[in-house]
Amino acid sequence: MSDAKLQSVLSALSQTVRQLDAIPAKQPGPEANCVKLDTNENPFPLPMLVMRSAIAALKRHYLYPEDDNRCLREAAANAYGLSRDQVIAGNGSSELLGLIYRAFLAPGDSVAMMSPGFSFNRKLALLQGAQFLEIEWSKAYSLPIEQLLLGPAKEAKFILLANPNNPSGTFVPIAEIDRLAAQSDRLIVLDEAYVDFAPDDALRLINRHSNLLVLRTFSKSYAAAGIRIGFGFGHPELIGRLRNSQNLFNMNLIAHAVGTSILSHRAAYAENHKHIKDERHRTTAALSKLGFSVTPSHANFLLARAPPGQNGTWWQASLRRRKILVAVFPDDGLENHIRVSVGSKTQMDAFLSAAADISKSLKMQPVTHG
Ligand SMILES: Cc1ncc(COP(=O)(O)O)c(C=O)c1O
Repeated sequence: MSDAKLQSVLSALSQTVRQLDAIPAKQPGPEANCVKLDTNENPFPLPMLVMRSAIAALKRHYLYPEDDNRCLREAAANAYGLSRDQVIAGNGSSELLGLIYRAFLAPGDSVAMMSPGFSFNRKLALLQGAQFLEIEWSKAYSLPIEQLLLGPAKEAKFILLANPNNPSGTFVPIAEIDRLAAQSDRLIVLDEAYVDFAPDDALRLINRHSNLLVLRTFSKSYAAAGIRIGFGFGHPELIGRLRNSQNLFNMNLIAHAVGTSILSHRAAYAENHKHIKDERHRTTAALSKLGFSVTPSHANFLLARAPPGQNGTWWQASLRRRKILVAVFPDDGLENHIRVSVGSKTQMDAFLSAAADISKSLKMQPVTHG
């Protein structure tokens, strides 16, 4: 295609898509032998019975999956004590987030999110031509209910809050969410992606507040990020409208089988969740000893501020050279922080040993690392 033709094709893109850069053809991928602690996956194997259900589902590969995810929604409703029409299922919870943005936002509308938060939301708002209002967390990460009710967020079509929050790992007591939902007439989208690592959850509020939509995922606590299973729970009327605007066959039949099987074997994950909480505790203590300041976490990751004078991107690069991948958020005012997923003991040992090694080399020859 000549350049002139390409320009003509690209100029036909919508204005919002034109604002996004193209993804470069050659993107550096993670090296195969890296310890991957940058996207909060759960590295443990699926329970054997769940694995078997996936293999059995493969035999039906030539059939379309069930439309509208009926059986999976029924299984989730039974597991969580709800009715099927209160449940929507998605190809990961990020598909459901996209659906909510498309359903609620027209160009010029606004959406509010507690910030720093899950930054994918910023892109979803941009794609709708919507204004993205970022309401800053206080230092103590308490919910600013009055600000959400009376400030610019009052005009937002919906308010988005992750609990536990990503990337801080902090947790807002459910009584606060209850108070916000009771006092607001906006939709509150409560993203509970990490809730299985937290002390409480808000699902019991669904029957009390028709303006509350709770999102869950099996990517984090159920070790199924690659299978793509997410849920939304809310009022049947709201859920029904969202289901009606979903893609045909949005999930595949392996995800249906794995999701249904996980729902009936949730107890098999208790040890996994305990292991992650124990490692979270151990890693927090070890990082603190290295001079990091770690935000108390209720998720499967830690947000750690580097020792004074050191910056997060520098630490990320230094760890990467030792084949450890962590995340950084310089665009969210967290220039001095790294976010580390909490995985297996072996992974955390590798991370801590690399961090100690970097720390030691810094002490031996102070160089610029800011
Ligand atoms: C807060 C939050 N919500 C949603 C997601 C997306 O999860 P899923 O894999 O279900 O799309 C993530 C993933 O990192 C997340 O951190």
